[in-house]
Amino acid sequence: MEDLLGQNKVIDESRQGEATMMKNENSHPKKKMYIENYGCQMNFSDSEIVASILTKEGYETTDKETDADLILVNTCSIRENAETRVMNRLGHFKKTKKQNPGLIIGVLGCMAERMRETLLEKEKLVDIVVGPDAYRSLPSLIEEASEGRKAVNVLLSREETYAEISPIRLSSNGVTAFISIMRGCDNMCSFCVVPFTRGRERSRNPETIVKEAHELFAQGFREVTLLGQNVDSFRWNMSSKGVIKDESLPTVNFAGLMEMVAQVSPELRIRFSTSHPKDMTDEVLEVMARHENICKYIHLPVQSGNTDILEKMNRGYSREWYLNRIAAINRIMPDCAISTDIITGFCSETEANHQDTLSLMKEVDYDFAFMFKYSERPRTLAERKFEDDVTEEDKARRLQEVIAIQQESSLKRNKNHVGKTFEVLVEGLSKRSREHLFGRTTQNAVVIFEKGNHKPGDYVHVKITGCSSATLQGELVN
Ligand code: SAH
Ligand code: SF4
Ligand code: F3S
Repeated sequence: MEDLLGQNKVIDESRQGEATMMKNENSHPKKKMYIENYGCQMNFSDSEIVASILTKEGYETTDKETDADLILVNTCSIRENAETRVMNRLGHFKKTKKQNPGLIIGVLGCMAERMRETLLEKEKLVDIVVGPDAYRSLPSLIEEASEGRKAVNVLLSREETYAEISPIRLSSNGVTAFISIMRGCDNMCSFCVVPFTRGRERSRNPETIVKEAHELFAQGFREVTLLGQNVDSFRWNMSSKGVIKDESLPTVNFAGLMEMVAQVSPELRIRFSTSHPKDMTDEVLEVMARHENICKYIHLPVQSGNTDILEKMNRGYSREWYLNRIAAINRIMPDCAISTDIITGFCSETEANHQDTLSLMKEVDYDFAFMFKYSERPRTLAERKFEDDVTEEDKARRLQEVIAIQQESSLKRNKNHVGKTFEVLVEGLSKRSREHLFGRTTQNAVVIFEKGNHKPGDYVHVKITGCSSATLQGELVN
């Protein structure tokens, strides 16, 4: 994606753009499904639920689109260019279907509700459209589509969390996995389409979350990332199935949930995403500090360093509030890494507002950042009420300025690591060399080192000998 600092690649359309092909080699049924994934980690995690639902229907996954009887594209609406990429891909699959008329093509995820008419009727690109809360209806929709009818279910739910479905791990390294702990978002940031595509916020029963973490650990996984759009508002009332009717009943909040998952095993690392500055409590930070296996890394999206713009974004905090949260992190966990998301050129953003973002970035000195130009999204408050009045040139220039500052900070941070020794969880072979492994420190920094006798899933100690702004190089120590 053009508006992204290359070094910060994660599986996340909101933050990068690689489509991820899905593969599972352990099942042997007849029909083949090919799932292509766009968007954030939540979408990736949803595709694993979809794979689980359809495996029970006799499908197996394939990584070759040409072998597939069913092609599913899990879509993202976060910025206009995310949607454009998906539309281009669907045009390509439509051509494939001309050669193979029995092929069924379906759209999943965040574009479903917004684009269903275009997809099914106007451009007739696909056979099935399914929204994020309707994946249980996929088997019946596939049946309808195979009888030649267009099949659609984009209903959003207030309860669906797929709590008891065991996801099929796709494209897995066998070491790290995602666990969805909640769905939807109630925050209504004025630029953001997510509340419209994913509906109301709801938390998942913590007992099912802990069970999933135990199962993953037993299968050899050594790191779980707890996912939600705003994990700090996780809330589950044990006695009333999550709907808070009586505050005197025992309630599990995010700090409590982390405490529960941290106790699965000291050998299981825990990460989470995304924290919201308005809701992140000291209690959460203290739980993190208490448990060595909760990784010392927080992604805390600021979006802008100017209080007026933050207000217009409806983020629910000021610059001062945000900096107070950063101070709390540094006080409670001095070694904690911090990353952020930034939007340049939001409605009415002046040069002075933009300078506030630059100065905040310098002050916080982030380990890394995901940076975007503002892209107006349909139905959002900003689209309805504010003018998208910053020119494309200004948005792009401001983005470059933001990226330049981040590159400096990332390099400085990495240089500080040189000479120190870190515990690293090995994730796999380095892309550049089969003699090297890569893994991450608790602070989420990527480290490359000679493999010795080690393998993915091992914890090793590595002394850092060199770095770029993106990665650390090191050598094993005993
Ligand atoms: N729930 C998370 C963010 C999810 S979307 C949070 O509140 O932090 C991931 C990132 O995409 C956002 O943090 C924001 O920086 C960016 N983003 C969202 N909508 C956007 C838009 N309309 N234009 C540009 N970037 C956007
Ligand atoms: Fe979007 Fe805001 Fe919700 Fe994040 S918290 S998903 S930015 S509405
Ligand atoms: Fe995209 Fe939906 Fe995630 S819009 S960023 S896939 S929640």
